[in-house]
Amino acid sequence: MKPKIVVVGSSNTDMIVKVDRIPRTGETVLGGRFVTAPGGKGANQAVAAARAGADVTFIGRVGNDMFGQEALAGFIRDGIDTRFVYIDESEPSGVASIVVDRNGENSIAVAPGANANLSTRDIMVAQSVFESADIILVQLEIPLETVYTACNEAKQQGIPVLLNPAPAHVLNKNLFSCISILTPNEIEASLLSGIEVTDEPTAEAAAKELAGQGIPIVLITMGSRGVFVHSHEYMGMISSFDVEPVDTTAAGDVFNGALATALAENFSLTEAVRFANAAAAISVTALGAQTSAPTRKVIEDFLAGDH
Ligand code: RIB
Repeated sequence: MKPKIVVVGSSNTDMIVKVDRIPRTGETVLGGRFVTAPGGKGANQAVAAARAGADVTFIGRVGNDMFGQEALAGFIRDGIDTRFVYIDESEPSGVASIVVDRNGENSIAVAPGANANLSTRDIMVAQSVFESADIILVQLEIPLETVYTACNEAKQQGIPVLLNPAPAHVLNKNLFSCISILTPNEIEASLLSGIEVTDEPTAEAAAKELAGQGIPIVLITMGSRGVFVHSHEYMGMISSFDVEPVDTTAAGDVFNGALATALAENFSLTEAVRFANAAAAISVTALGAQTSAPTRKVIEDFLAGDH
């Protein structure tokens, strides 16, 4: 049976321009290719988890507009339960303006729109889906109060919470007692721990600091270098896979969606990280967020190959 994952988070439409290099302030760079693709950290993670093999319910908000309808249609194509994707009548769907350079690195500006209206009440209305979930996956592209409610509700029901603290925010330390797995990148880990993460020793120090605040598993994602793991089961770096990057947008989202699926299927932590690293590596070889999230078969074939 498929594991059940509830994802609480944002949905955006990404306006992506591929350019040679990211413009400096006040500069215009010509020559790029333009693509519109479904995105948003929450929706990306929901789609990644569904393609990796989970039964996913997504709790989010979209506007009553074309982008919202397209997002919903995409979730349905991926078999995601959309009963708790609310249609907001006062704000348009979220939009992200993304510039991707020749190395696949990006720069993103988000207009949250309807995502900013995802409320505590929306979570409470969807309370019944928490009961049967194996894991709850949350990020920070929605109001923090809603994040706290979702994490608290999961804790009350004894369901593990995987928090991807992106984009970076200062968090109330009380939240940490609800978190089973925290997956910051280097910037987020630096902000949350107060230790600047630049390499493996500083990642270890930051992970230790966060673990000391009561989080059982801390995974610091470090891009092409891999993931620093701090847990009772394993401590140290797990390397990422070497690929030619086209667009790193949503690599972290794909990592989190695949990780949640693998953990909900009771993979060991190191195997789950390897599985998620493979999914993320595949995703950076294609342009776009949800457009680049791989299916279970593609991930398994990749792992069975020379990697
Ligand atoms: O993490 C990548 C995502 O961040 C993009 O899809 C964009 O919508 C922003 O939310």
